[in-house]
Amino acid sequence: MAGETKAQVPLHPAVAPLSFLLGTWKGQGEGSFPTISSSFHYGEELTFSHSGGKPVIAYAQKTWKLASQENMHAESGYWRPKVDGSIEAVIAQSTGLVEVQKGTYDAEKKMVQLQSELIGNATKVREITRTFEFISGELVYVVQMATNSTTLQPHLRGLLKKI
Ligand code: HEM
Repeated sequence: MAGETKAQVPLHPAVAPLSFLLGTWKGQGEGSFPTISSSFHYGEELTFSHSGGKPVIAYAQKTWKLASQENMHAESGYWRPKVDGSIEAVIAQSTGLVEVQKGTYDAEKKMVQLQSELIGNATKVREITRTFEFISGELVYVVQMATNSTTLQPHLRGLLKKI
């Protein structure tokens, strides 16, 4: 109805165990890979949001060069937790690569582990794993990837605080 204030919709029961993620996180990351010449640092902001009703968390990430603020990689998608502790995520990257990730979460340890089931539209990347962990007030994540020429190796590590 016009003018009606929308009531706060309660968290979906599947999303509630991951409510610690909801909000906006900001911090820095560091990247490297055996096939790239030098490691690099970047600024990062990511948002997990939930509008209630559906068992879905929307995910949006952007990164930038620390010195110039110039945009770097960005990605967004949907995380779909289930009450049994399993989770799947679909993520679209600004490079054109798409991921279907499957994994598990631990509500007590505040941890999510994802392993790619499908990588699409990629020239080099064959596999991606992602772990997120809430440690001492910070969200710590690690991204590993396997490419045509390497086995699974760390590419990114980030440390973010909720803003
Ligand atoms: C290099 C994939 C996220 C920055 C690369 C390469 C791949 C890749 C395949 C080339 C490696 C090679 O040539 O052997 C990915 C994937 C990501 C991701 C799958 C997410 C899951 C990011 C993010 C940043 C980043 C978030 C920075 C904010 C870089 C940089 C290089 C690189 C700076 C080196 C480029 C160069 O040396 O020309 N990445 N990347 N990547 N990535 Fe990522």
